[in-house]
Amino acid sequence: MGTLKTHAEVSRVRELLQGAKGIFVLTGAGASAESGIPTFRGADGWWKKFRAEDLATPQAFSENPGLVWEWYDHRRRLVAEASPNDGHKALAKIEGSAERFLLATQNVDDLHERAGNRNVEHVHGSLWRVRCTSCSYAGELRDVPLPETPPRCKACRGLLRPDIVWFGETLNLAVVQRIDDFLQKLPTLDAALVVGTTAVFGYIQQWALMAKQSGAAVIEINPQETPLTQVVDVALRAKSAEVLPQIVDG
Ligand code: OAD
Repeated sequence: MGTLKTHAEVSRVRELLQGAKGIFVLTGAGASAESGIPTFRGADGWWKKFRAEDLATPQAFSENPGLVWEWYDHRRRLVAEASPNDGHKALAKIEGSAERFLLATQNVDDLHERAGNRNVEHVHGSLWRVRCTSCSYAGELRDVPLPETPPRCKACRGLLRPDIVWFGETLNLAVVQRIDDFLQKLPTLDAALVVGTTAVFGYIQQWALMAKQSGAAVIEINPQETPLTQVVDVALRAKSAEVLPQIVDG
């Protein structure tokens, strides 16, 4: 990485954020990588002999709910033992300095909230929420490790599932609406940060493009290129936990 170029880009991003009133942030697994949470598509995206993409599906759950829950139990434990990294903390500071702020994350961990962010939308749900596959129960389940695998509904003893959007499932419409509204109905949107995501899903690319159309300077933070790299205003080829504090603290 060209250090001088990066230094100039960091200064540019700092200027773009200084005085920005409306800020949108979109994060993916890379934002939590330096907290020790494996990304999905990286070399560490395996658990035992399974790929995350093969476990996070309704088919995998209906065939083997115990196995899928064992994987989530493992991930819940990792997150419970992890701490927000300096990138998460910098994003909380950015929220503190903005008048209007929304952070949409694909991550199912709660590290953004634990770092201090308040306006957070979980596009793919939460590791700490469950819902019953037999009745209408939905709620939090915080126990680590799980009391039983697979866990059962307190109301009807039905099988609980993670309240997570799996491959092939639809997003929560209320969450989508709140993000769309933030991007389209704000008086001004000045900057958008896209942090640590491969941006493989159409809706993720769409939200970055909507931010650009609403007038925001779009900044990507990712050590790798993504489908969004060509359309963003600044692409910082760096790790979020390293470069975000440089942007925020100077
Ligand atoms: P991926 O695992 O696909 O991508 C992680 C991205 O983070 C890659 O682009 C990496 O280059 C980048 N990255 C890695 N380390 C980084 C660091 N330290 N700082 C910044 N960036 C870093 O994760 P997502 O894009 O979040 O969905 O994947 C999207 C969705 O696919 C996930 O939410 C999950 C997954 O399957 C569901 O479970 C429905």
